[in-house]
Amino acid sequence: MLPKKYTWLVLLSIISLNEALRVLVWFPLFSKSHNILGRGVVNHLLKAGHEVVHVTSMPQKAPLPNLTEIDLSSIEEAFKQDKESNEHFKLKNLVGQKNFGDSIFFLYLSYEINKVSLEHEAVQTFLADPKQKFDAVILEWFFSDFIAGIAPLFNAPLIWMGSTEAHWQVLKLVDEIPNPAYSVDLFSVKRPPLTFWERMVELWTLAKRYVIINGVVVPFEKRLYNTIFPDLAAKRGVTMPGYDDAVYNASLMYLYSHPSIGTPFRLPQNAKYVGGYHVDTEVKALPKDLQKIMDEAKDGVIYFSMGSNLKSVDMTENMRNSLLKMFSKLKQKVIWKFEEDLQNVPANIHLVKWAPQQSILAHPNLKMFITHGGQLSTTEAIHFGVPVVGIPVFGDQYVNTKSAVDKGFCISVTLAEDMSDDIYAAVQEILRNPAYKTKAKELSAIFHDRPMKPGEELVYWLEYVVRTHGAKHLRSPAVNVPMYQKLFLDLLLIVVVGSYVLCKIKQKVFGKRKADKPVKSGKKTKTN
Ligand SMILES: *[C@@H]1O[C@H](CO)[C@@H](O)[C@H](O)[C@H]1NC(C)=O
Repeated sequence: MLPKKYTWLVLLSIISLNEALRVLVWFPLFSKSHNILGRGVVNHLLKAGHEVVHVTSMPQKAPLPNLTEIDLSSIEEAFKQDKESNEHFKLKNLVGQKNFGDSIFFLYLSYEINKVSLEHEAVQTFLADPKQKFDAVILEWFFSDFIAGIAPLFNAPLIWMGSTEAHWQVLKLVDEIPNPAYSVDLFSVKRPPLTFWERMVELWTLAKRYVIINGVVVPFEKRLYNTIFPDLAAKRGVTMPGYDDAVYNASLMYLYSHPSIGTPFRLPQNAKYVGGYHVDTEVKALPKDLQKIMDEAKDGVIYFSMGSNLKSVDMTENMRNSLLKMFSKLKQKVIWKFEEDLQNVPANIHLVKWAPQQSILAHPNLKMFITHGGQLSTTEAIHFGVPVVGIPVFGDQYVNTKSAVDKGFCISVTLAEDMSDDIYAAVQEILRNPAYKTKAKELSAIFHDRPMKPGEELVYWLEYVVRTHGAKHLRSPAVNVPMYQKLFLDLLLIVVVGSYVLCKIKQKVFGKRKADKPVKSGKKTKTN
Protein backbone atom coordinates (compact mmCIF):
# COMPACT_ATOMS: atom_id res chain seq x y z
CA MET A 1 0.00 0.00 0.00
CA LEU A 2 1.25 3.46 -0.87
CA PRO A 3 1.04 6.09 1.84
CA LYS A 4 -2.05 8.17 1.26
CA LYS A 5 -0.18 11.35 0.50
CA TYR A 6 1.37 9.70 -2.59
CA THR A 7 -1.86 8.48 -4.14
CA TRP A 8 -2.65 11.82 -5.72
CA LEU A 9 0.87 11.88 -7.17
CA VAL A 10 0.37 8.48 -8.75
CA LEU A 11 -3.02 9.54 -10.06
CA LEU A 12 -1.56 12.71 -11.47
CA SER A 13 1.22 10.85 -13.24
CA ILE A 14 -1.28 8.45 -14.80
CA ILE A 15 -3.35 11.36 -16.01
CA SER A 16 -0.35 13.20 -17.45
CA LEU A 17 0.96 10.02 -19.10
CA ASN A 18 -2.34 9.64 -20.86
CA GLU A 19 -2.54 13.25 -21.87
CA ALA A 20 -4.23 13.41 -25.25
CA LEU A 21 -1.94 14.65 -27.99
CA ARG A 22 -2.95 16.37 -31.17
CA VAL A 23 -1.26 14.74 -34.16
CA LEU A 24 -1.18 15.67 -37.83
CA VAL A 25 -1.14 12.58 -40.06
CA TRP A 26 -0.15 13.39 -43.65
CA PHE A 27 -0.99 10.56 -46.06
CA PRO A 28 -2.26 12.34 -49.16
CA LEU A 29 -1.60 9.66 -51.81
CA PHE A 30 -4.68 8.55 -53.71
CA SER A 31 -3.73 4.91 -53.60
CA LYS A 32 -5.68 2.30 -51.69
CA SER A 33 -2.65 0.70 -50.06
CA HIS A 34 -1.13 3.99 -48.90
CA ASN A 35 -4.53 4.92 -47.58
CA ILE A 36 -4.74 1.67 -45.64
CA LEU A 37 -1.43 2.60 -44.00
CA GLY A 38 -2.64 6.14 -43.25
CA ARG A 39 -5.86 4.89 -41.70
CA GLY A 40 -3.90 2.36 -39.68
CA VAL A 41 -1.85 5.14 -38.10
CA VAL A 42 -4.97 7.21 -37.48
CA ASN A 43 -6.86 4.34 -35.87
CA HIS A 44 -4.03 3.42 -33.51
CA LEU A 45 -3.69 7.03 -32.41
CA LEU A 46 -7.43 7.41 -31.88
CA LYS A 47 -7.51 4.18 -29.90
CA ALA A 48 -4.76 5.54 -27.68
CA GLY A 49 -6.96 8.56 -26.96
CA HIS A 50 -5.24 11.11 -29.16
CA GLU A 51 -6.77 13.66 -31.47
CA VAL A 52 -5.93 13.39 -35.15
CA VAL A 53 -6.09 15.56 -38.23
CA HIS A 54 -5.72 13.30 -41.26
CA VAL A 55 -4.78 14.74 -44.65
CA THR A 56 -6.18 12.17 -47.07
CA SER A 57 -7.58 11.81 -50.57
CA MET A 58 -9.77 8.91 -49.45
CA PRO A 59 -11.76 10.21 -46.47
CA GLN A 60 -13.93 7.83 -44.42
CA LYS A 61 -17.64 8.00 -44.90
CA ALA A 62 -18.60 7.93 -41.25
CA PRO A 63 -17.08 10.62 -39.04
CA LEU A 64 -15.23 9.49 -35.91
CA PRO A 65 -14.82 11.36 -32.65
CA ASN A 66 -11.45 13.12 -32.32
CA LEU A 67 -10.80 12.81 -36.04
CA THR A 68 -10.79 15.64 -38.56
CA GLU A 69 -10.12 14.90 -42.20
CA ILE A 70 -8.71 17.29 -44.76
CA ASP A 71 -10.29 16.00 -47.95
CA LEU A 72 -8.01 15.88 -51.00
CA SER A 73 -10.18 13.59 -53.11
CA SER A 74 -10.38 16.23 -55.85
CA ILE A 75 -6.74 15.44 -56.67
CA GLU A 76 -7.67 11.92 -57.62
CA GLU A 77 -10.40 13.26 -59.91
CA ALA A 78 -7.88 15.52 -61.61
CA PHE A 79 -5.38 12.71 -62.13
CA LYS A 80 -8.12 10.41 -63.43
CA GLN A 81 -8.62 12.87 -66.28
CA ASP A 82 -5.01 12.24 -67.30
CA LYS A 83 -5.69 9.34 -69.67
CA GLU A 84 -2.07 8.83 -70.65
CA SER A 85 -0.83 8.30 -67.08
CA ASN A 86 -3.75 5.99 -66.40
CA GLU A 87 -2.97 3.82 -69.41
CA HIS A 88 0.61 3.64 -68.23
CA PHE A 89 -0.40 1.87 -65.03
CA LYS A 90 -2.60 -0.77 -66.61
CA LEU A 91 -1.50 -4.34 -66.18
CA LYS A 92 -1.53 -5.09 -69.92
CA ASN A 93 0.81 -2.16 -70.58
CA LEU A 94 3.27 -3.19 -67.88
CA VAL A 95 4.14 -6.61 -69.31
CA GLY A 96 7.80 -6.76 -70.29
CA GLN A 97 8.43 -3.20 -69.04
CA LYS A 98 11.45 -2.10 -67.05
CA ASN A 99 10.61 -1.20 -63.45
CA PHE A 100 9.36 2.35 -63.89
CA GLY A 101 10.26 3.15 -60.29
CA ASP A 102 13.78 3.60 -61.57
CA SER A 103 12.92 6.29 -64.11
CA ILE A 104 12.97 10.07 -64.42
CA PHE A 105 9.24 9.89 -65.10
CA PHE A 106 8.68 8.40 -61.66
CA LEU A 107 10.78 11.10 -59.97
CA TYR A 108 8.73 13.72 -61.77
CA LEU A 109 5.46 12.01 -60.89
CA SER A 110 6.22 11.74 -57.18
CA TYR A 111 7.40 15.36 -57.03
CA GLU A 112 4.19 16.41 -58.77
CA ILE A 113 1.97 14.37 -56.41
CA ASN A 114 3.59 15.92 -53.33
CA LYS A 115 3.41 19.40 -54.86
CA VAL A 116 -0.24 19.12 -55.83
CA SER A 117 -1.13 17.86 -52.34
CA LEU A 118 0.69 20.70 -50.65
CA GLU A 119 -0.81 23.31 -52.99
CA HIS A 120 -4.35 21.98 -52.56
CA GLU A 121 -6.68 24.73 -51.42
CA ALA A 122 -7.94 22.83 -48.39
CA VAL A 123 -4.37 22.13 -47.29
CA GLN A 124 -3.27 25.71 -47.79
CA THR A 125 -6.18 27.06 -45.72
CA PHE A 126 -5.53 24.50 -43.02
CA LEU A 127 -1.76 25.07 -42.87
CA ALA A 128 -2.17 28.84 -42.73
CA ASP A 129 -4.63 28.70 -39.86
CA PRO A 130 -2.81 29.90 -36.70
CA LYS A 131 -5.41 28.15 -34.53
CA GLN A 132 -4.15 24.74 -35.66
CA LYS A 133 -1.63 23.36 -33.18
CA PHE A 134 0.06 19.98 -33.09
CA ASP A 135 2.24 18.00 -30.71
CA ALA A 136 3.70 15.91 -33.54
CA VAL A 137 3.54 15.66 -37.30
CA ILE A 138 3.66 12.30 -39.13
CA LEU A 139 4.47 12.62 -42.84
CA GLU A 140 4.39 9.76 -45.28
CA TRP A 141 7.60 10.01 -47.27
CA PHE A 142 7.00 9.49 -50.96
CA PHE A 143 10.15 10.36 -52.92
CA SER A 144 10.08 14.04 -52.00
CA ASP A 145 11.73 15.64 -49.00
CA PHE A 146 10.39 19.21 -49.13
CA ILE A 147 7.15 18.42 -47.30
CA ALA A 148 9.35 18.32 -44.18
CA GLY A 149 8.56 22.06 -44.07
CA ILE A 150 5.14 21.21 -42.60
CA ALA A 151 6.63 20.37 -39.19
CA PRO A 152 8.31 23.74 -38.47
CA LEU A 153 5.05 25.51 -39.38
CA PHE A 154 3.64 24.00 -36.19
CA ASN A 155 6.92 23.94 -34.34
CA ALA A 156 6.25 20.24 -33.85
CA PRO A 157 8.58 17.23 -34.00
CA LEU A 158 8.77 15.61 -37.42
CA ILE A 159 8.13 11.88 -37.80
CA TRP A 160 8.58 10.29 -41.22
CA MET A 161 6.73 7.19 -42.34
CA GLY A 162 8.73 5.19 -44.82
CA SER A 163 5.98 2.97 -46.16
CA THR A 164 8.28 0.34 -47.68
CA GLU A 165 11.33 -1.71 -46.84
CA ALA A 166 14.24 0.54 -45.74
CA HIS A 167 16.38 2.02 -48.53
CA TRP A 168 18.95 4.77 -48.96
CA GLN A 169 16.55 7.56 -49.78
CA VAL A 170 14.79 7.32 -46.44
CA LEU A 171 17.82 6.31 -44.39
CA LYS A 172 19.75 9.36 -45.55
CA LEU A 173 17.10 11.51 -43.83
CA VAL A 174 17.90 10.12 -40.39
CA ASP A 175 21.35 8.63 -40.78
CA GLU A 176 23.38 8.23 -43.93
CA ILE A 177 23.35 6.46 -47.26
CA PRO A 178 23.95 2.79 -46.51
CA ASN A 179 26.79 0.98 -48.27
CA PRO A 180 25.60 -0.23 -51.70
CA ALA A 181 27.88 -3.26 -51.38
CA TYR A 182 25.22 -4.82 -49.16
CA SER A 183 22.22 -2.45 -49.23
CA VAL A 184 20.28 -2.50 -52.48
CA ASP A 185 18.14 0.20 -54.03
CA LEU A 186 14.37 -0.06 -53.45
CA PHE A 187 13.86 -0.70 -57.17
CA SER A 188 16.58 -3.29 -57.45
CA VAL A 189 15.93 -6.93 -58.23
CA LYS A 190 18.87 -8.22 -56.19
CA ARG A 191 19.52 -8.85 -52.54
CA PRO A 192 22.75 -9.37 -50.63
CA PRO A 193 25.08 -11.21 -50.81
CA LEU A 194 25.95 -9.51 -54.10
CA THR A 195 28.32 -10.75 -56.77
CA PHE A 196 31.00 -8.46 -58.19
CA TRP A 197 28.79 -7.26 -61.05
CA GLU A 198 25.76 -6.85 -58.84
CA ARG A 199 27.80 -4.64 -56.55
CA MET A 200 28.91 -2.58 -59.53
CA VAL A 201 25.30 -2.24 -60.69
CA GLU A 202 24.17 -1.15 -57.21
CA LEU A 203 26.97 1.41 -57.01
CA TRP A 204 26.09 2.73 -60.46
CA THR A 205 22.35 2.88 -59.63
CA LEU A 206 23.05 4.77 -56.44
CA ALA A 207 25.54 7.17 -58.07
CA LYS A 208 23.17 7.87 -60.95
CA ARG A 209 20.13 8.50 -58.75
CA TYR A 210 22.19 10.50 -56.26
CA VAL A 211 23.41 12.83 -59.02
CA ILE A 212 19.97 13.19 -60.61
CA ILE A 213 18.26 13.79 -57.28
CA ASN A 214 20.81 16.29 -56.00
CA GLY A 215 21.39 17.91 -59.36
CA VAL A 216 17.82 18.17 -60.61
CA VAL A 217 15.16 17.24 -58.07
CA VAL A 218 16.52 19.02 -55.00
CA PRO A 219 16.88 22.42 -56.77
CA PHE A 220 13.21 22.12 -57.83
CA GLU A 221 12.23 21.12 -54.30
CA LYS A 222 14.16 24.02 -52.77
CA ARG A 223 12.47 26.49 -55.06
CA LEU A 224 9.07 25.09 -54.18
CA TYR A 225 9.92 25.04 -50.48
CA ASN A 226 10.96 28.68 -50.62
CA THR A 227 7.82 29.75 -52.46
CA ILE A 228 5.22 27.83 -50.46
CA PHE A 229 6.36 27.77 -46.86
CA PRO A 230 7.47 31.34 -46.03
CA ASP A 231 3.98 32.72 -46.80
CA LEU A 232 2.32 30.09 -44.64
CA ALA A 233 4.85 30.69 -41.88
CA ALA A 234 4.19 34.43 -41.99
CA LYS A 235 0.44 33.82 -41.59
CA ARG A 236 1.17 31.58 -38.61
CA GLY A 237 3.69 34.01 -37.14
CA VAL A 238 6.71 31.69 -37.31
CA THR A 239 9.86 31.81 -39.42
CA MET A 240 10.92 28.95 -41.63
CA PRO A 241 14.27 27.23 -41.24
CA GLY A 242 16.28 26.61 -44.40
CA TYR A 243 15.45 23.62 -46.59
CA ASP A 244 18.23 21.37 -45.26
CA ASP A 245 17.53 22.32 -41.65
CA ALA A 246 13.92 21.25 -42.08
CA VAL A 247 14.54 18.12 -44.14
CA TYR A 248 17.24 16.67 -41.89
CA ASN A 249 15.52 17.39 -38.59
CA ALA A 250 13.39 14.29 -38.12
CA SER A 251 12.83 12.98 -34.62
CA LEU A 252 11.80 9.55 -35.81
CA MET A 253 11.48 7.35 -38.89
CA TYR A 254 8.90 4.59 -38.99
CA LEU A 255 9.69 1.86 -41.49
CA TYR A 256 6.92 -0.30 -42.80
CA SER A 257 8.91 -3.50 -42.77
CA HIS A 258 10.25 -6.18 -40.47
CA PRO A 259 13.38 -8.35 -40.65
CA SER A 260 11.21 -11.47 -40.94
CA ILE A 261 9.98 -10.36 -44.35
CA GLY A 262 12.75 -8.01 -45.48
CA THR A 263 16.43 -7.25 -45.00
CA PRO A 264 17.76 -6.58 -41.48
CA PHE A 265 19.13 -3.11 -42.19
CA ARG A 266 21.51 -1.42 -39.76
CA LEU A 267 19.29 1.33 -38.44
CA PRO A 268 19.92 4.49 -36.43
CA GLN A 269 18.39 4.64 -32.94
CA ASN A 270 15.43 6.68 -34.13
CA ALA A 271 14.32 4.37 -36.96
CA LYS A 272 11.72 1.81 -35.95
CA TYR A 273 10.22 -1.13 -37.80
CA VAL A 274 6.45 -1.02 -37.52
CA GLY A 275 5.55 -3.40 -40.36
CA GLY A 276 2.22 -5.08 -39.75
CA TYR A 277 0.48 -2.34 -37.79
CA HIS A 278 -2.25 -2.07 -40.40
CA VAL A 279 -3.44 -5.66 -39.93
CA ASP A 280 -6.66 -5.80 -37.91
CA THR A 281 -6.12 -7.11 -34.39
CA GLU A 282 -9.13 -9.36 -34.79
CA VAL A 283 -9.93 -11.23 -37.98
CA LYS A 284 -13.28 -10.12 -39.36
CA ALA A 285 -15.81 -12.78 -40.34
CA LEU A 286 -15.91 -13.67 -44.03
CA PRO A 287 -19.01 -12.86 -46.07
CA LYS A 288 -21.35 -15.89 -46.03
CA ASP A 289 -20.67 -17.05 -49.61
CA LEU A 290 -16.91 -16.96 -49.20
CA GLN A 291 -17.09 -18.62 -45.81
CA LYS A 292 -19.06 -21.49 -47.34
CA ILE A 293 -16.69 -21.87 -50.29
CA MET A 294 -13.63 -21.89 -48.06
CA ASP A 295 -15.11 -24.17 -45.41
CA GLU A 296 -16.21 -26.72 -48.00
CA ALA A 297 -13.06 -26.72 -50.13
CA LYS A 298 -11.73 -30.18 -49.24
CA ASP A 299 -8.67 -29.74 -51.48
CA GLY A 300 -8.07 -26.24 -50.23
CA VAL A 301 -8.29 -22.75 -51.67
CA ILE A 302 -5.92 -20.61 -53.73
CA TYR A 303 -6.32 -16.87 -53.48
CA PHE A 304 -5.25 -14.67 -56.39
CA SER A 305 -5.09 -10.87 -56.24
CA MET A 306 -2.87 -8.35 -57.97
CA GLY A 307 -3.59 -5.75 -55.28
CA SER A 308 -5.65 -2.60 -55.40
CA ASN A 309 -3.64 -0.55 -57.91
CA LEU A 310 -3.16 -3.28 -60.50
CA LYS A 311 -6.53 -4.50 -61.67
CA SER A 312 -7.02 -7.96 -63.11
CA VAL A 313 -9.63 -6.37 -65.38
CA ASP A 314 -6.76 -4.58 -67.12
CA MET A 315 -5.16 -7.81 -68.32
CA THR A 316 -5.36 -8.64 -72.01
CA GLU A 317 -8.17 -11.02 -72.93
CA ASN A 318 -5.59 -13.59 -73.89
CA MET A 319 -3.87 -13.45 -70.50
CA ARG A 320 -7.14 -13.62 -68.62
CA ASN A 321 -8.43 -16.58 -70.66
CA SER A 322 -5.25 -18.58 -70.29
CA LEU A 323 -5.33 -17.98 -66.53
CA LEU A 324 -8.96 -19.09 -66.32
CA LYS A 325 -8.11 -22.22 -68.29
CA MET A 326 -5.10 -22.98 -66.11
CA PHE A 327 -7.02 -22.44 -62.85
CA SER A 328 -9.84 -24.70 -64.10
CA LYS A 329 -7.35 -27.61 -64.20
CA LEU A 330 -6.78 -27.35 -60.43
CA LYS A 331 -8.58 -29.43 -57.83
CA GLN A 332 -8.52 -26.45 -55.49
CA LYS A 333 -11.06 -23.68 -55.34
CA VAL A 334 -9.67 -20.39 -56.66
CA ILE A 335 -10.77 -17.02 -55.29
CA TRP A 336 -9.72 -14.37 -57.79
CA LYS A 337 -10.05 -10.66 -57.17
CA PHE A 338 -11.48 -9.58 -60.51
CA GLU A 339 -13.20 -6.23 -60.82
CA GLU A 340 -15.93 -7.18 -63.31
CA ASP A 341 -18.44 -9.97 -63.94
CA LEU A 342 -17.40 -12.60 -66.47
CA GLN A 343 -19.44 -15.17 -68.39
CA ASN A 344 -18.67 -18.91 -68.40
CA VAL A 345 -16.34 -18.96 -65.42
CA PRO A 346 -15.22 -22.54 -64.57
CA ALA A 347 -16.96 -24.02 -61.53
CA ASN A 348 -13.91 -24.04 -59.22
CA ILE A 349 -13.20 -20.33 -59.79
CA HIS A 350 -14.94 -17.70 -57.74
CA LEU A 351 -14.51 -14.08 -58.84
CA VAL A 352 -14.83 -11.33 -56.25
CA LYS A 353 -14.85 -7.61 -57.03
CA TRP A 354 -13.59 -6.83 -53.58
CA ALA A 355 -11.73 -9.35 -51.43
CA PRO A 356 -11.66 -9.36 -47.62
CA GLN A 357 -7.99 -10.25 -47.95
CA GLN A 358 -7.05 -10.61 -44.29
CA SER A 359 -10.01 -12.88 -43.56
CA ILE A 360 -9.21 -15.04 -46.61
CA LEU A 361 -5.56 -15.33 -45.59
CA ALA A 362 -6.61 -16.30 -42.07
CA HIS A 363 -8.73 -19.26 -43.21
CA PRO A 364 -7.13 -22.65 -42.40
CA ASN A 365 -8.08 -24.09 -45.82
CA LEU A 366 -6.07 -21.51 -47.71
CA LYS A 367 -3.15 -23.15 -49.52
CA MET A 368 -1.40 -20.15 -51.00
CA PHE A 369 -1.62 -16.56 -52.12
CA ILE A 370 -0.80 -15.53 -55.69
CA THR A 371 0.17 -11.87 -55.38
CA HIS A 372 1.91 -8.95 -57.11
CA GLY A 373 4.23 -8.76 -54.09
CA GLY A 374 3.10 -5.39 -52.70
CA GLN A 375 4.44 -4.65 -49.23
CA LEU A 376 1.04 -4.93 -47.58
CA SER A 377 0.16 -8.21 -49.27
CA THR A 378 3.56 -9.73 -48.45
CA THR A 379 3.23 -8.59 -44.85
CA GLU A 380 -0.27 -10.00 -44.54
CA ALA A 381 0.90 -13.31 -46.03
CA ILE A 382 3.54 -13.60 -43.30
CA HIS A 383 1.21 -12.30 -40.61
CA PHE A 384 -1.01 -15.31 -41.37
CA GLY A 385 1.81 -17.68 -42.37
CA VAL A 386 0.73 -18.30 -45.97
CA PRO A 387 3.13 -19.34 -48.77
CA VAL A 388 3.19 -17.15 -51.84
CA VAL A 389 3.51 -17.15 -55.63
CA GLY A 390 4.88 -13.68 -56.49
CA ILE A 391 4.35 -11.88 -59.81
CA PRO A 392 6.11 -8.52 -59.30
CA VAL A 393 5.10 -5.71 -61.67
CA PHE A 394 6.72 -2.48 -60.51
CA GLY A 395 8.11 -0.40 -57.66
CA ASP A 396 9.23 -2.30 -54.58
CA GLN A 397 7.38 -5.46 -55.66
CA TYR A 398 10.60 -6.92 -57.10
CA VAL A 399 12.57 -6.41 -53.88
CA ASN A 400 9.72 -7.80 -51.79
CA THR A 401 9.32 -10.86 -54.00
CA LYS A 402 13.06 -11.52 -54.19
CA SER A 403 13.19 -11.30 -50.43
CA ALA A 404 10.30 -13.74 -50.06
CA VAL A 405 11.97 -16.17 -52.48
CA ASP A 406 15.31 -15.96 -50.63
CA LYS A 407 13.54 -16.58 -47.35
CA GLY A 408 11.93 -19.68 -48.78
CA PHE A 409 8.18 -19.05 -48.65
CA CYS A 410 7.71 -17.88 -52.22
CA ILE A 411 8.15 -18.87 -55.87
CA SER A 412 8.42 -15.97 -58.26
CA VAL A 413 6.91 -15.87 -61.75
CA THR A 414 7.73 -13.30 -64.44
CA LEU A 415 4.78 -11.20 -65.56
CA ALA A 416 4.10 -12.20 -69.17
CA GLU A 417 1.25 -12.80 -71.58
CA ASP A 418 1.85 -16.54 -71.38
CA MET A 419 2.70 -16.89 -67.69
CA SER A 420 -0.07 -19.35 -66.88
CA ASP A 421 2.16 -22.43 -67.32
CA ASP A 422 4.74 -20.93 -64.97
CA ILE A 423 2.06 -20.11 -62.40
CA TYR A 424 0.70 -23.64 -62.72
CA ALA A 425 4.16 -25.11 -62.08
CA ALA A 426 4.67 -22.82 -59.07
CA VAL A 427 1.27 -23.73 -57.64
CA GLN A 428 1.97 -27.46 -58.04
CA GLU A 429 5.37 -27.10 -56.38
CA ILE A 430 3.93 -25.29 -53.37
CA LEU A 431 1.11 -27.86 -53.08
CA ARG A 432 3.58 -30.74 -53.33
CA ASN A 433 6.46 -29.46 -51.23
CA PRO A 434 5.55 -28.62 -47.60
CA ALA A 435 8.77 -26.58 -47.11
CA TYR A 436 7.13 -23.36 -48.34
CA LYS A 437 4.30 -23.53 -45.86
CA THR A 438 6.59 -24.57 -43.02
CA LYS A 439 8.82 -21.58 -43.77
CA ALA A 440 5.86 -19.20 -43.93
CA LYS A 441 4.69 -20.44 -40.51
CA GLU A 442 8.17 -20.19 -39.04
CA LEU A 443 8.60 -16.60 -40.30
CA SER A 444 5.13 -15.78 -39.08
CA ALA A 445 6.14 -16.80 -35.57
CA ILE A 446 9.24 -14.56 -35.83
CA PHE A 447 7.10 -11.73 -37.21
CA HIS A 448 4.83 -11.88 -34.17
CA ASP A 449 7.63 -12.36 -31.63
CA ARG A 450 8.14 -8.74 -30.59
CA PRO A 451 8.03 -6.92 -27.26
CA MET A 452 4.99 -4.97 -28.44
CA LYS A 453 2.49 -5.23 -31.28
CA PRO A 454 3.52 -2.93 -34.14
CA GLY A 455 0.51 -0.63 -33.67
CA GLU A 456 1.30 -0.20 -29.97
CA GLU A 457 4.94 0.40 -30.80
CA LEU A 458 4.00 3.07 -33.29
CA VAL A 459 1.99 4.90 -30.62
CA TYR A 460 4.69 4.35 -28.01
CA TRP A 461 7.43 6.02 -30.07
CA LEU A 462 5.21 8.91 -31.02
CA GLU A 463 4.42 9.59 -27.35
CA TYR A 464 8.10 9.11 -26.53
CA VAL A 465 9.12 11.72 -29.11
CA VAL A 466 6.66 14.21 -27.62
CA ARG A 467 7.70 13.41 -24.01
CA THR A 468 11.38 13.89 -24.85
CA HIS A 469 10.80 17.08 -26.87
CA GLY A 470 11.88 15.68 -30.20
CA ALA A 471 14.09 12.79 -29.02
CA LYS A 472 17.28 14.64 -29.98
CA HIS A 473 19.34 12.09 -28.03
CA LEU A 474 18.37 9.33 -30.48
CA ARG A 475 19.51 11.11 -33.61
CA SER A 476 22.41 9.78 -35.58
CA PRO A 477 25.38 12.15 -35.72
CA ALA A 478 25.86 11.06 -39.34
CA VAL A 479 22.89 13.09 -40.47
CA ASN A 480 24.78 16.36 -40.08
CA VAL A 481 28.06 15.25 -41.59
CA PRO A 482 28.43 16.32 -45.21
CA MET A 483 29.30 13.72 -47.81
CA TYR A 484 32.83 15.08 -48.41
CA GLN A 485 33.63 14.64 -44.72
CA LYS A 486 32.24 11.08 -44.64
CA LEU A 487 34.38 10.18 -47.63
CA PHE A 488 37.35 12.13 -46.18
CA LEU A 489 37.59 14.05 -49.42
CA ASP A 490 39.08 16.97 -47.44
CA LEU A 491 41.87 14.68 -46.29
CA LEU A 492 42.31 13.44 -49.83
CA LEU A 493 42.55 17.03 -51.01
CA ILE A 494 45.20 17.80 -48.38
CA VAL A 495 47.18 14.72 -49.38
CA VAL A 496 46.95 15.48 -53.09
CA VAL A 497 47.78 19.18 -52.76
CA GLY A 498 50.45 18.41 -50.13
CA SER A 499 52.12 15.81 -52.37
CA TYR A 500 52.02 18.19 -55.29
CA VAL A 501 53.62 20.97 -53.27
CA LEU A 502 56.24 18.58 -51.83
CA CYS A 503 57.02 17.38 -55.34
CA LYS A 504 57.48 20.93 -56.52
CA ILE A 505 59.76 21.76 -53.58
CA LYS A 506 61.72 18.59 -54.18
CA GLN A 507 62.08 19.45 -57.82
CA LYS A 508 63.26 22.96 -56.97
CA VAL A 509 65.80 21.85 -54.35
CA PHE A 510 67.01 18.54 -55.77
CA GLY A 511 66.41 19.65 -59.34
CA LYS A 512 69.06 22.35 -58.80
CA ARG A 513 71.49 19.84 -57.35
CA LYS A 514 70.82 17.53 -60.26
CA ALA A 515 71.63 20.38 -62.57
CA ASP A 516 74.87 20.85 -60.59
CA LYS A 517 75.68 17.17 -60.75
CA PRO A 518 77.07 16.84 -64.32
CA VAL A 519 79.46 19.68 -63.59
CA LYS A 520 80.61 17.89 -60.44
CA SER A 521 81.01 14.59 -62.21
CA GLY A 522 82.72 16.42 -65.03
CA LYS A 523 85.19 17.72 -62.48
CA LYS A 524 85.57 14.19 -61.19
CA THR A 525 86.40 12.73 -64.64
CA LYS A 526 88.79 15.52 -65.13
CA THR A 527 90.67 14.83 -61.92
CA ASN A 528 90.63 11.10 -62.55
C1 LIG B 1 14.12 20.45 -35.12
O1 LIG B 1 13.31 19.64 -34.29
C2 LIG B 1 13.28 20.04 -32.95
C3 LIG B 1 12.46 19.02 -32.18
O2 LIG B 1 11.20 18.90 -32.69
C4 LIG B 1 12.73 21.47 -32.83
O3 LIG B 1 12.77 21.87 -31.48
C5 LIG B 1 13.58 22.39 -33.68
O4 LIG B 1 13.02 23.69 -33.69
C6 LIG B 1 13.65 21.88 -35.10
N1 LIG B 1 14.57 22.68 -35.87
C7 LIG B 1 14.28 23.21 -37.05
C8 LIG B 1 15.37 23.96 -37.72
O5 LIG B 1 13.19 23.07 -37.55
